[in-house]
Amino acid sequence: MAFTIGQYRIEGNLILAPMAGVTDAPFRHICRLFGADYAVGEMLASAPQLRESRKSLSRLGFYENEAPRAVQLLGADPKTLVKALDWASRSGAQIVDFNMGCPAKKVCNVACGSALMRDEALAGEIIQALGAAAVERQIPVTLKCRTGWDGEHKNAVRIARMAEDAGFSLVTVHGRTRAQGFEGEAEYDTIAEVARAVSIPVVANGDIDSANRVQAVLRYTNASAVMIGRAALGRPWIFKEIKERLKGNTSFELSRPEKARSILTHRRWHLAHYGEPCGTLTFRKHLLWYLDGWPGFEEVRAALCAASSAQDQESLLIAYFQAQGWM
Ligand SMILES: Cc1cc2nc3c(=O)[nH]c(=O)nc-3n(C[C@H](O)[C@H](O)[C@H](O)COP(=O)(O)O)c2cc1C
Repeated sequence: MAFTIGQYRIEGNLILAPMAGVTDAPFRHICRLFGADYAVGEMLASAPQLRESRKSLSRLGFYENEAPRAVQLLGADPKTLVKALDWASRSGAQIVDFNMGCPAKKVCNVACGSALMRDEALAGEIIQALGAAAVERQIPVTLKCRTGWDGEHKNAVRIARMAEDAGFSLVTVHGRTRAQGFEGEAEYDTIAEVARAVSIPVVANGDIDSANRVQAVLRYTNASAVMIGRAALGRPWIFKEIKERLKGNTSFELSRPEKARSILTHRRWHLAHYGEPCGTLTFRKHLLWYLDGWPGFEEVRAALCAASSAQDQESLLIAYFQAQGWM
């Protein structure tokens, strides 16, 4: 069940995926309270002018008790990435994850993210530079990649071997190619091949949303852990549900009143992290994920989305929960 990332021992095998605009400190905290064993912060650009922007700095926040603290870096220049690793470490990060999976056009057009899977020479230079820095500074570096560039160019095994040889501590593979984006189904054969090819821990990612899927993917791939992304949007309790079900409590589900309380708690932390009015506005997306499909939500949706003050948002939310008998 447990695995290690360099000198850090992770006591379970459920990981929250890094998701830009989502996995900030409050969201990581609530997921970890519900049983996520490890969580990587949001992606940060490595270029100094970008990483020191207000938006990036707000993404780098950690809660005091977060352990170990991990950030993800994006970039295409080895020297800049090593400098960014030092900067992230000075800012409190204990583990640095390198993003070779992001398929966004604005990222791939500047040769970052999953575009690097098509340029193995540059990917190799970056991996060498980050691996050497990691070993020298004793800061574990991990890699997140896709299975390849497209169906004809699946090179995750070669990339993972390069990472292991350079001194990386872990590799996460999202079971899709860059060309697939988020379309189609994740495949786990390539992840299983990667797990056979390297001896550092491998994390399987893609379409994992239930206890059955966790069990099946771990068995099929022989990965050390699984990473959950979209299934945790509006559902941070998924980690608890999966753990309870794996323990044999097969119909475990958090009750609606418990979920309502958790939403209010997450909202309080979110507001404390971002302040007003940013916190109220940015929590709207979480509300839409949380309450999608809940009884009676359609009737209050427009008013909740229009609320621009913290007080209005909270009053509407509490009135909704009370009207449904969950508070
Ligand atoms: C909103 C959103 C933001 C994401 N941002 C990042 C990111 O910053 N870095 C990264 O490596 N992957 C990012 N991803 C990809 C996820 O980490 C994950 O690899 C992908 O969603 C597949 O896992 P899933 O099927 O469990 O969602 C993002 C995904 C989503 C949905």
